[in-house]
Amino acid sequence: MREKALKEIESANSLEKVEEARVKYLGRSGEVSGFLRTIKDLPVEERKTVGPEANALRKELEEKIAEKKESFSGSGKKTFDATKPGKRTGRGHLHPLTIVDRDVRRIFSSLNFSVVEGPEMETEYYNFDALNIPGDHPARDMWDTLWVKGSGESRHLMRTHTSPMQIRYMESHKAPFQIIVPGRTFRYEATDASHEINFYQVEGLMVGPDVTLANFKFIVEEFFGKFFRKDIEFRFRPSYFPFVEPGVEVDIRFGDGKWLEVMGAGMVHRNVFKSVKYDPEEVQGFAFGMGLDRLAMIKYGIPDIRMFYSGDVRFVDQF
Ligand code: PHE
Repeated sequence: MREKALKEIESANSLEKVEEARVKYLGRSGEVSGFLRTIKDLPVEERKTVGPEANALRKELEEKIAEKKESFSGSGKKTFDATKPGKRTGRGHLHPLTIVDRDVRRIFSSLNFSVVEGPEMETEYYNFDALNIPGDHPARDMWDTLWVKGSGESRHLMRTHTSPMQIRYMESHKAPFQIIVPGRTFRYEATDASHEINFYQVEGLMVGPDVTLANFKFIVEEFFGKFFRKDIEFRFRPSYFPFVEPGVEVDIRFGDGKWLEVMGAGMVHRNVFKSVKYDPEEVQGFAFGMGLDRLAMIKYGIPDIRMFYSGDVRFVDQF
């Protein structure tokens, strides 16, 4: 019986055949099972030797069958049931800042602005000097940052704003044009609910023979309407930035009546035009820089900027 059974198991060429052999020998009315049942009727002396031998045989066959089955399921094919419902895998999603970044690009593109990007590590020249902020200017205090050790004519730093791209773009393009520059910026900052050492900005720059602040007002109004999908109350407040004259800050009115500053802006300063060899008698334009994180905070009602960078899935999974 042992030889016959082993041969059959060995020569089985499918999972079904192995199962057939199992039922034939070890099933409820199988040959081995039937033999095992008769042992109790044997004389005591015979039982002592036959019993353990029969049990060993059953065990051997069980092992061989399991082994054989394993060899078939190893390929995966025999145990794959294409009619079973699939396992649901989690679907990823965009970070809220990425959603806002894409919205901003889409809206300004629809207003005929080109989207350009610049380096996150800048030179002192592009981040400050060319923007009318010389080394001894007190306004440098507004943009304390992380300096990078190195050599060369101009020192390197992590850009404190996206404004350096105003210079880089105008150095290699002629007016008229209109661009936005979304990107990451850095400040040496004690963090709190509305300040981070790392955040995102969108720079805007439109230059031509007769571009005015009225054009700027139209663009901001269009942008806010499309971004927040409703009419937004906003105001211009006089402010100071060395690279614009006059300068303004733009505040948005919140549901609770409070004003929140979302961007700095103004008419491009003539010294900025001079540093890129534009003639300030021939062109003029507006520039703005807005905080992308702030926009996201207003749109989604997020109370603390640090949440964006916490890596906490309980936060990001809400978007
Ligand atoms: N770069 C300024 C800042 O980061 C914002 C700004 C941009 C102001 C362009 C005026 C014009 O604070």
